[in-house]
Amino acid sequence: MHIAVIGTGYVGLVSGAGMADFGMNVVCVDIDEEKITKLKAGEIPFYEPGLKELVAKNVKAGRLSFTTDLAEAVKRTLVIFICVGTPPAPDGSADLSAVKSVALSLAETIDEYKVIVTKSTVPVGTNRWIKQLIDENKKNDVKVDVISNPEFLREGCAIEDFMRPDRVVIGGESDHAIAIIKDIYRPLYLAETPFVITDLETAEMIKYASNAFLATKISFINEVATLCDKVGADVITVAKAMGLDPRIGPRFLNPGPGFGGSCFPKDVRALAYLGKQNNHPMHILEAVLTVNERQREVTVQKVKQICGDLPGKTIAVLGLAFKPNTSDVRESPALDIVERLIAEGAKVQAYDPIAEEEFKKAKPELPVKYATDPYEAADGAHCLLILTEWNEFRYLDLEKIKNLMAEPAIVDARNIYEPARMQKLGFKYTGMGRGNFAGQKA
Ligand code: UDX
Repeated sequence: MHIAVIGTGYVGLVSGAGMADFGMNVVCVDIDEEKITKLKAGEIPFYEPGLKELVAKNVKAGRLSFTTDLAEAVKRTLVIFICVGTPPAPDGSADLSAVKSVALSLAETIDEYKVIVTKSTVPVGTNRWIKQLIDENKKNDVKVDVISNPEFLREGCAIEDFMRPDRVVIGGESDHAIAIIKDIYRPLYLAETPFVITDLETAEMIKYASNAFLATKISFINEVATLCDKVGADVITVAKAMGLDPRIGPRFLNPGPGFGGSCFPKDVRALAYLGKQNNHPMHILEAVLTVNERQREVTVQKVKQICGDLPGKTIAVLGLAFKPNTSDVRESPALDIVERLIAEGAKVQAYDPIAEEEFKKAKPELPVKYATDPYEAADGAHCLLILTEWNEFRYLDLEKIKNLMAEPAIVDARNIYEPARMQKLGFKYTGMGRGNFAGQKA
């Protein structure tokens, strides 16, 4: 089967390479010439473990190619995946201009039956709107079917998530089109991955509701963590015991500086917006966003509590990416927190294994001193602030760090260290919600 994937961001490139690996003939399309030139040369425009190898393997096998020529690409294909960005507009709604422009280009070019699949996260009603746009603007009298096939992949483990998803969601009206898409995912079907086949609106809502629920779990545990600090309880043990109830589940109960990334903040805002638009304000989601904002401030306050007023102090920030294994800093808590620390008079020395460049691009005006390793960042610092739980931060030579620092203090906003061990090593230490440091006794 021939497939075109439009948009070579995370979702497009991972899905394109993944489907090629399933044996499909995939052409990936993007309007960004520089991106396509790089991809043709085997360069991946962002960091994602294993993706470079997967792309190279499938290009070599002749199943994966890249082009900027949308008209040419869709000529040979039965199925077209739309994977372009849907960034947040200032009012919180999703900006659908890229989706619209793709739909209008398709209306211009297609001259035979096509199945048009949306993988981008789009507000409920968008797939129907895409069909209407194409039907109203098409040059040739051809039939198109639309399918909603949301993608649930996480940055940093995107390939694993694509190859072994928890579920495949396919929403549509045409049984014929649904069967075609099911066929693409046959390897997953055979591996007994659950398939949810439904209508367009339900499929669109599943994606938003899933992301919003996960974000809710995070804001919930962040609130509980702050309360644990105040009343002297240990959130790690609380979360562990909560998670033993299968109705709650253990995952996504790690407190931190707040969620970031290209999905959660945007999707929660978009669902909240949809609620307002439909005269049904989503009070829970408004609170999830407020708590997420406050979490940045909670982290800054912890730094101030541990090292006093910030003027004259140097803070060593370890981790700038919104989570480990990615160079992505979109909506990363570090953007806000570093800015606030500097605004309050601190000097910041920062280190991230791969996100430094992206951070500089996002905040070129911030006078951050970028270090080449954690030790250089810690040199002369009054506080070590862990903002991303990169594995390499778990195994630092903390004796060496202590000797390099002006004051041995740690704000561990990802709870990667054991409080008792840090105290024994001679650090002033605070984690997130680790109240009385006792934790689980046995
Ligand atoms: C998320 C969803 O997991 C994925 O299914 C969807 O398709 C896209 O959005 P992603 O944004 O890549 O994926 O990252 P994820 O691993 O879910 O983490 C999101 C944010 O939540 C990060 O900032 C992370 O640090 C934070 N987080 C996550 C917590 O603070 N605590 C947790 O327990 C889990």
